[in-house]
Amino acid sequence: MKSYKINDTVLFVEESGEGFPVLFIHGFPFDHSIWSRVCSRGIPGFRLIAPDLRGLGRSELPDGAGTTTMEQFADDLYALLEAMDLTEKVVVVGLSMGGYVAMQFARKYVDKLAGIVLCNTKTTTDPPEVAENRRIQAENLRTKPAFLPNYLNVVADTMIPKLFAAKTQAERPEIVSELRSIIESNNPLGAAAATLGMALRPDTTELLQQLDVPVLVVCGSEDQFSPPMEMRPLAGLAKRGRYVEIADAGHLPVMEQPEKFVEALAGFLGELI
Ligand code: MLT
Repeated sequence: MKSYKINDTVLFVEESGEGFPVLFIHGFPFDHSIWSRVCSRGIPGFRLIAPDLRGLGRSELPDGAGTTTMEQFADDLYALLEAMDLTEKVVVVGLSMGGYVAMQFARKYVDKLAGIVLCNTKTTTDPPEVAENRRIQAENLRTKPAFLPNYLNVVADTMIPKLFAAKTQAERPEIVSELRSIIESNNPLGAAAATLGMALRPDTTELLQQLDVPVLVVCGSEDQFSPPMEMRPLAGLAKRGRYVEIADAGHLPVMEQPEKFVEALAGFLGELI
């Protein structure tokens, strides 16, 4: 992985391929490696860029970062593209929390945006009870290192049963354990800062309606976090939206059904250039 000094932190980035840039933004509490099955397949004509967001994966969490807003993540990514000397526009692909970040990128840096892919995400804010649970989770992540080795084990135990489709849970134990290891390897303070940032995120539904770039909405048919009945309408709201549903996938089609995901993404990208 390459590293870049960005704003007040250092971001680690996995890159592959050459051509038009595509920026992949991971969800919470994951890192760039959720995209590895997609990026390793490659998409001819495209440069695939998958960073670890600040405080997650290998990327650093600056001292005293109590909350990382979705806007801060987006600012980091813009600074990253500048540091990489990428002068052209990019396609931004965001999964779940990465989708919240992608929408902040679209709000602030629309001139840099050639298209946007919203995977397993939403544009609405947290209901009050969800925001409160995030504050409790952040407190636990900060103060309970006694779990083996920290509270991310509990986060993994809580999330994993809901993250994958039934078929993935039953037949692909290696994917389930890979994701557990991604979650548990994270910095609990970075995860705490991100979860507090998610609780503060603004509603971006109107922004999506106004965006005048191609939008691909991708959803796993069994996603319990952002189910098809909530995601399909997002494509209808966007001026230039399109919806793809991936069967036998939950919240992480990029890991569970990477061939189908790449097919959908490559089709969308191919029409952009
Ligand atoms: C994610 O996968 O990024 C999270 O489930 C998003 C969230 O908690 O809202």
